[in-house]
Amino acid sequence: MFSRIAGTGHYLPEQCLTNAMLEQRVDTTHDWIVERTGIHQRHIASNGENAATMAVAAARQALAAAETDIAEIDLIVVATTSGDRAFPSVACEVQAALTDENIPAFDVAAACSGFIFAMSVADQYIRSGTYRSVLVIGTDVLSRLCRPDDRNTIVLFGDGAGAVVLQASNVPGIESTHLHSAGEFADLLGVNHPQRRESDHAEALSEAWMYMKGNEVFKVAVSKLSELVNETLVANGLTPDDLDWLVPHQANLRIIKATAKKLKMPMSQVVTTLADTGNTSAASVPIALDVAVRDGRIQRGHKLLLEAFGGGFAWGSALITY
Ligand code: ACO
Repeated sequence: MFSRIAGTGHYLPEQCLTNAMLEQRVDTTHDWIVERTGIHQRHIASNGENAATMAVAAARQALAAAETDIAEIDLIVVATTSGDRAFPSVACEVQAALTDENIPAFDVAAACSGFIFAMSVADQYIRSGTYRSVLVIGTDVLSRLCRPDDRNTIVLFGDGAGAVVLQASNVPGIESTHLHSAGEFADLLGVNHPQRRESDHAEALSEAWMYMKGNEVFKVAVSKLSELVNETLVANGLTPDDLDWLVPHQANLRIIKATAKKLKMPMSQVVTTLADTGNTSAASVPIALDVAVRDGRIQRGHKLLLEAFGGGFAWGSALITY
């Protein structure tokens, strides 16, 4: 038994934050942001929107695309690190919004790589025969975790959600997934929960924003992603020529170009959304996937390499026949 993608969907908030708007807020320029990251604007969640509401909107689209009713879904897995609460999980909020049935729902926390990790979990349930239909969602509102005057982070992150319906199939869809973590890099990228820490509460509150040593993250990301795409191809007995599309995490155009170069893939075979979306963390890979499915670039039978790298560090890939 295999799992295949039956339908995809995504949601981006209407409100946009352009580079020109950021120039008014912090010491930065449109040209610096475009040259260093490739990002032109990001979508920002409005009041009334959060990780769960965006996830529900993306899930409804994916269910419609799969021509599947929520009644047929056996499990909901949500990749996120920016839910409103430590618990209940965002997945439980999504379950309540979509159905009265008590189907199991839980979150997976692997920062920007969360969607790949969640899809890998769902794939195991389907391959083992435990479940036949799983809703997998990546959703994040990282714009709310960036200190409003920190030019290092606010230029990078936007909000959004992406979703897929995975279904049991006799023919391969997800061919393999490859996951890695390296917790020793925790000081390079993260977000503290001050109230959960032992240290003095008031002092700790000042740390409640994302911290990132961008340049060091960049170097590890390029090197680990290069190893990862190689590992994925070797595991499947493929060469880069066998791939139709690279669907990368949308963190930085220079990181994406380095990975494409490693694969000797022209940028015309790489799906990029980051000019419009910025880095939407766990949502970035499923948003890019859905955009390219909906505009007709990704077709049934195409071979896709999905990859992501993020906080943890955690990084992962999936080789998929769409
Ligand atoms: N505008 C203008 N100048 C800036 C800005 C800004 N927004 N941000 C930093 N600078 C300055 C720096 O202060 C530095 O100035 P200095 O030379 O006087 O000290 C200069 O620009 C160069 O800074 P670097 O950090 O070396 O710039 P770099 O080329 O590395 O680009 C960036 C920075 C875009 C953050 C890049 O390092 C990057 O994308 N890193 C990866 C981040 C990432 O991928 N995160 C993904 C995971 S996120 C997750 O998992 C949730």
